[in-house]
Amino acid sequence: MMRDMPDGTRILLTREEIAARVQALGGEIERDYAGREPVLISVLKGGTVFLADLFRAIDLRTRVDFMSISRYEERPESTGVVRILKDLDHDIADRDVIVVEDIIDTGLTLSYLMGALRQRGPATLEVCTLLDKAVRRIVPLDIRYLGFDCPDVFAVGYGLDASERFRNLPYIVAVERSAVETAGDLLLPLLSP
Ligand code: PRP
Repeated sequence: MMRDMPDGTRILLTREEIAARVQALGGEIERDYAGREPVLISVLKGGTVFLADLFRAIDLRTRVDFMSISRYEERPESTGVVRILKDLDHDIADRDVIVVEDIIDTGLTLSYLMGALRQRGPATLEVCTLLDKAVRRIVPLDIRYLGFDCPDVFAVGYGLDASERFRNLPYIVAVERSAVETAGDLLLPLLSP
């Protein structure tokens, strides 16, 4: 059920808007990969909600695999170098790979990961992201499949979290930059106790 939006927040994308775009992206991937068996890769955890819906909008033989990464706290944020905590279960050599992300911000994480994945010799390697916050980009990235451009707001819901909460909101909320520090408290009324 949709509740009144707290001050400093607004609905960025409704569940209907997300669903329609996910169906369209699934259709695009289905056409582009007809006769092939792409592997959809998600980097835990934000992208999993999008992946789950996208995967079911593709009427082809497809596979999924997951990676978990951690950023090095002691290194400057701008390196993008991450530590792989959980690697893919399967080899991607000669496979058609699509990395599915919830959001691309600076592009540092994905740029580093794409480099690491490319070294494993996939037949093709593409990116599909639900949101692109291009205004924040530091490293250029080639995005093959894009859901929505995202303004420079703090986006929460549909996989995106505020301190690990609110990933289960079925829509995406924009929190004003000035309210980011208190986003968790602000958004709490959106969830049942
Ligand atoms: C988000 C998102 C990307 C990354 C993008 O993950 O899923 O992996 O940030 O940021 P960048 O373009 O600036 O590198 P997050 O670290 O929030 O982890 P989560 O998916 O577990 O929420």
